[in-house]
Amino acid sequence: ESEALPFIASKVSQYSCQRKTTLNNCNKKFTDAFEIMAENYEFKENEIFSLEFLRAASVLKFLPFPVIRMKDIQGLPCMGDRVKDVIEEIIEEGESSRAKEVLNDERYKSFKQFTSVFGVGVKTSEKWYRMGLRTLEEVKADKTLKLSKMQKAGFLYYEDLVSCVSKAEADAVSLIVRNTVCTFLPDALVTITGGFRRGKKTGHDIDFLITNPGPREDDELLQKGLLLYCDVIESTFLKEQIPSRKVDAMDNFQKCFAILKLCQPGVDNSSYNTSKNTDMAEVKDWKAIRVDLVITPFEQYAYALLGWTGSRQFGRDLRRYANHEKKMILDNHALYDREKRIFLKAGSEEEIFAHLGLDYVEPWERNA
Ligand code: CTP
Ligand code: MN
Ligand code: MN
Ligand code: MN
Repeated sequence: ESEALPFIASKVSQYSCQRKTTLNNCNKKFTDAFEIMAENYEFKENEIFSLEFLRAASVLKFLPFPVIRMKDIQGLPCMGDRVKDVIEEIIEEGESSRAKEVLNDERYKSFKQFTSVFGVGVKTSEKWYRMGLRTLEEVKADKTLKLSKMQKAGFLYYEDLVSCVSKAEADAVSLIVRNTVCTFLPDALVTITGGFRRGKKTGHDIDFLITNPGPREDDELLQKGLLLYCDVIESTFLKEQIPSRKVDAMDNFQKCFAILKLCQPGVDNSSYNTSKNTDMAEVKDWKAIRVDLVITPFEQYAYALLGWTGSRQFGRDLRRYANHEKKMILDNHALYDREKRIFLKAGSEEEIFAHLGLDYVEPWERNA
């Protein structure tokens, strides 16, 4: 079927959940610069400016053509003055001096390094930066620092974790997770979510959603021998809890931010065996991989799937749309109609879009 409608800028919705965004981005030059700007604002905890650049990036990712003159963005939503300045400069100079400034900024460079460690966020980075620390070497050398269990694991497996997870590795891990879950819960449903469900070829982790139809017997599920590191967070969800209205709310599922040991001599691990390991008798034939495991009650599965598939921006806009356009509150557990004061049940993602009065958007079209 052909959907080649003429492109009308003023018809583009400000909500990415009303747009179809695939991985074909013709405006990477712009969106990369926006994402650097957004990240810098995130490091400064300026959520408003950060979201402004993330929304603009998301609009340009959706555009079916590359922007070559200012006229091309006329009528598009989310194009504020700060955003336009960056676009104009890239059109004229080929690059953004503001983004370049950020990349050379000492604080940004330190935060970028610090947050690349599993378990280190903006708060910890801020603390380390205030202590005068600038590089990961300096952090490692500082014996007075009290690292969390998560951060210790982050440093221990750092090289493996910063290298991207490939689709092949995701498939291999998926087999292991499925087999392991199956021995505990033979009827359980295991689904890959996150970037891999949206069709991405690489990721920084692998996200799994696990649900068991029927009675709940999943309490012991996450205590299994194959994890190198596992920080189990117990479910804190209360029955009939009104969804949270925050844009980036954490959910209350039992989940586990884990590091899995993928033993697979077949997988390309040439990067480990080169430098310092060559003269050692033992060659590392495994890779540490970040895995998020989320356990959901069967009735909430569709909501959890929608939330954990992302993208992050797509999820933010779904919640903002629900709240502002439909007077409903959406989170990873449920959809609540504020006017009717009822929970809207859904057995599939399609039903959730229908409750919201939205056209269905396929997972690979949610790369907003
Ligand atoms: N998510 C969530 N609650 C969390 C953590 C993540 O709902 N506590 C959602 C995020 O909003 C995102 C999805 O789960 O939409 C996957 O998160 P993440 O793994 O961080 O991102 P990916 O899109 O999978 O990208 P990457 O390849 O970097 O992993
Ligand atoms: Mn992910
Ligand atoms: Mn990520
Ligand atoms: Mn994740």
